[in-house]
Amino acid sequence: MNKFKCNFISEFLFIKLFGAVILTFISSPVISWSALGHELTARIAYELMTPDTRLEVDKILNGESFESVSTWADRIKIDRKETEYFHYINFIATKTALTGKPETTSPKNVVSGIVLYKDILQRSNASSQEKKEALSFLIHFFGDIHQPLHNSLDGTNGGNDIKVKFFNEETNLHKVWDNLLLKQAGFSKEEYFQNLMNMCKDFDQNSIRNENYMDWALESNQIALTKGYDITPDHVLGKTYYENNIPVINQRLVTGGIHLAQMLNKVFDKKYQEVTADNLLSGNHDQTSILSMLFQYLATDSLSMALIKFERLLSPNTSKNQTQ
Ligand code: ADE
Ligand code: ZN
Ligand code: ZN
Repeated sequence: MNKFKCNFISEFLFIKLFGAVILTFISSPVISWSALGHELTARIAYELMTPDTRLEVDKILNGESFESVSTWADRIKIDRKETEYFHYINFIATKTALTGKPETTSPKNVVSGIVLYKDILQRSNASSQEKKEALSFLIHFFGDIHQPLHNSLDGTNGGNDIKVKFFNEETNLHKVWDNLLLKQAGFSKEEYFQNLMNMCKDFDQNSIRNENYMDWALESNQIALTKGYDITPDHVLGKTYYENNIPVINQRLVTGGIHLAQMLNKVFDKKYQEVTADNLLSGNHDQTSILSMLFQYLATDSLSMALIKFERLLSPNTSKNQTQ
């Protein structure tokens, strides 16, 4: 197994180097990207899904791409006011401290939104339109729940009410996290996506296997409090704030993509439950299944992507405590 993995790693390094050389010759326009975070999360998830899951989600989306529907929930917010609360969650610090459990300003929030639309997605009597909407909402809300400032404390509208200067631009803290930090990185969407996919394989899977949405929101909230709101008294933010926080944003985008892929794989791919790294390592799985998974990846992905996924499948850092 070790030699096997080593070969993969050396192939990875070669592909990475080759990719870096190619990328330097491609121009890198800074794209208009208010939607960038959502699109990147969706794209990572789509890459990490199994082929069977992809078939199912493509069927539901009926010709629209997984990435393009990721921003639909924002576009319809004005007409569908009842969905507005599902884009964020605000915790009440004092009450939470008092009761020891998460107390929120509204029972309608990003966590309950995910629970609601996942339920609709799985209902056997849901119409195809209901399923398409449910899936589109889920793709979007998986982005929002991983954006720290969408998981904030009561009182600042997720940082919308905190005026700041970011690299000399008058703005607010929420926009810095929704848009400006990503924009400052200066990558094209394609470059950003490739960088994040490279990060995927280094992830500690123990930290991402848990499917408890409130835990994810609280994790984002912790990041908002310790990093997002940690600004200088003059509210002037620049290089230091960017350098401290861009790795955090990248980590949240990757985590969101992995979470979304895992959730959809569990919903749509019967085989996925069986071919987990847990089962592989405990010897519950025969070699034919492992190889068949590799061939499935090779049939549908680029070589580098197939290898990333296969590496992830063989990663020993997995946890057995999956909660719903
Ligand atoms: N509006 C009120 N609170 C918000 C939050 N945490 N994120 C986004 N929009 C909000
Ligand atoms: Zn949103
Ligand atoms: Zn926002």
